[in-house]
Amino acid sequence: MILKLSNINKSFGSTIVLEDINITSEKKECLAIIGPNGAGKSTLFKVISGIIKQDNGYVEFNSKSVNALNVEERARLGISQSFQKNSLFLEMTVKESLMIACSHKYKVSFNFIKPLYKNNFISEDAIKIAKDIGLQNYLDIKSEFLSYGLQRQLELGIAIACNPRLLLLDEPTAGMSPAETKDIINLIKKLSKEYSIIIVEHDMEVIYNLADKIYVLDRGKLIFEGSPNAVKNSELVQKVYLGI
Ligand SMILES: Nc1ncnc2c1ncn2[C@@H]1O[C@H](COP(=O)(O)OP(=O)(O)O)[C@@H](O)[C@H]1O
Ligand SMILES: [Mg+2]
Repeated sequence: MILKLSNINKSFGSTIVLEDINITSEKKECLAIIGPNGAGKSTLFKVISGIIKQDNGYVEFNSKSVNALNVEERARLGISQSFQKNSLFLEMTVKESLMIACSHKYKVSFNFIKPLYKNNFISEDAIKIAKDIGLQNYLDIKSEFLSYGLQRQLELGIAIACNPRLLLLDEPTAGMSPAETKDIINLIKKLSKEYSIIIVEHDMEVIYNLADKIYVLDRGKLIFEGSPNAVKNSELVQKVYLGI
């Protein structure tokens, strides 16, 4: 088991946002969380990555409680959250961005006096990741000149470069064109063979295609848990979430 959430509760003031959430995720599983806007999906991700602290309940990662750990400490253990908001250094090239991300893995700190590109092993690692994310032909292009879809692919690459053990993807296709969506889904599908992934996504075709297990969140409560097929066949889910 890679992640276990037990009895997670979170309120903002008098608004209950998460209520008694219990979730388990196995290694290399792709788990999807779906639910209407405002259901609490992003808040749940923030509780896992440590951006916000739950009021009660436990977050266990690799069978150890991470309750007392902050975001950086959890990231060091391998919990990686990719953000909806663009978080790239636009002035840097694809290769430079990936090298900086890789340097964290090797505990080599970025140093403007001794340029990073002199570290051959980091350079090779960055090129390998660029290939994994389909950006091998853009190595020397500054991020600002990449299309929106390619920028999001690079963000995924940066997340991977940090050696994650659990990737949290919050609406990775948000704002993408259909063609860009197709590319990023193929990429996530490829990554899902190697990494444990939890994804929040609105496109049900994407979810059915990727997920091993789906949790349905509605107004802070888990109302259903099951395989993609079970979700397709659940009248409750169809009614509450899909509105059909
Ligand atoms: N920092 C915050 N302060 C107060 N309310 C918040 C905060 N973050 C989220 N909320 C509220 O929590 C609820 C769930 O939000 P969110 O987790 O973003 O939902 P989702 O990602 O499923 O759309 C919403 O009603 C939202 O307004
Ligand atoms: Mg959200």
